[in-house]
Amino acid sequence: MASPLPPAPVGVHVRAPAKINLALKVGAPRPDGYHPLATVYHAVSLYDDVHAEWAEPDEFELEASGEGVEQVPLDDSNLALRAARLLARTHGGGDRLGVHLTIRKNIPVAGGLAGGSADGAAALLACATLWDIDLAPEVLRHLGAELGSDVPFSLMGGTAVGSGRGEDVAPALARGSYHWVLAFGQEGLSTPAVYRRFDELNPSPEPPEVPADLMNALRGGDPYELGAALVNDLQPAALTLRPQLRRVLDAGLDLGAVGAVVSGSGPTCAFLVEDEEDAVDLSIALSAEGVARKVMRAGGPVVGARVVG
Ligand code: C5P
Repeated sequence: MASPLPPAPVGVHVRAPAKINLALKVGAPRPDGYHPLATVYHAVSLYDDVHAEWAEPDEFELEASGEGVEQVPLDDSNLALRAARLLARTHGGGDRLGVHLTIRKNIPVAGGLAGGSADGAAALLACATLWDIDLAPEVLRHLGAELGSDVPFSLMGGTAVGSGRGEDVAPALARGSYHWVLAFGQEGLSTPAVYRRFDELNPSPEPPEVPADLMNALRGGDPYELGAALVNDLQPAALTLRPQLRRVLDAGLDLGAVGAVVSGSGPTCAFLVEDEEDAVDLSIALSAEGVARKVMRAGGPVVGARVVG
């Protein structure tokens, strides 16, 4: 007797990581309003989870739970929902597809950690898997770029150089793994507002280039060298909008971090430490200082969005 066919998948579970920017160099705004970037992305072990389940044709539904969920838009501006619709429209082959998406958030909203981009990347991969649409990674990244500048990196993961407006990604030559302590701010920061403040503070910035000392540090795998090379051109802008972040950065450095940087447009501060033990010590000490809403440990680099069930 022939063995029965395995049951069709009723749902797909994808997990996508947060990112920090080890370097973020920003140029003058382009005619389309975006800023040219030279950035080094680094995926860390803090994840959002997206479940995709079949829904009626043309039905695109979304629910969300977890960290900061009251700030997650549930309408068509949500990146996960936009990802599902984009994929159905461009690669659905004329089929009337539908999906029910469930997002479980751990990455803070508007934290400078690309949480929304992680959801968009996870939804793209989850829907492609659910609907059995077989796309090469570069095609998926190309679709991701239509959703947001950080989405291609959320798909790729690891440590990668980003150029263009950030959407053009290539893996970086990087050795070793790193221990981070992340300090979340009380409230999110608006990315466009931080870029606008950057423009005010920098009327004629240099064309952005990835810093050579940072790339050398990554090739060597030494946390001390990496800590000294962390750089973010948006940090002064984030600090003028949220002056208390200075206290957070100083506290982390005073308590033994080997490097500190505001991640992306903030307000999350990322602290590099030498090893796991130092990460435990710093996260306890920083929590006790009471300068951040929440303090977490994370490791990097980790892989990008992937199917876990
Ligand atoms: O690409 P994404 O939708 O994530 O960008 C959000 C906002 O961040 C943009 O509308 C723009 O204001 C700003 N941005 C920028 N330059 C970039 C990336 C983002 O000005 N390279």
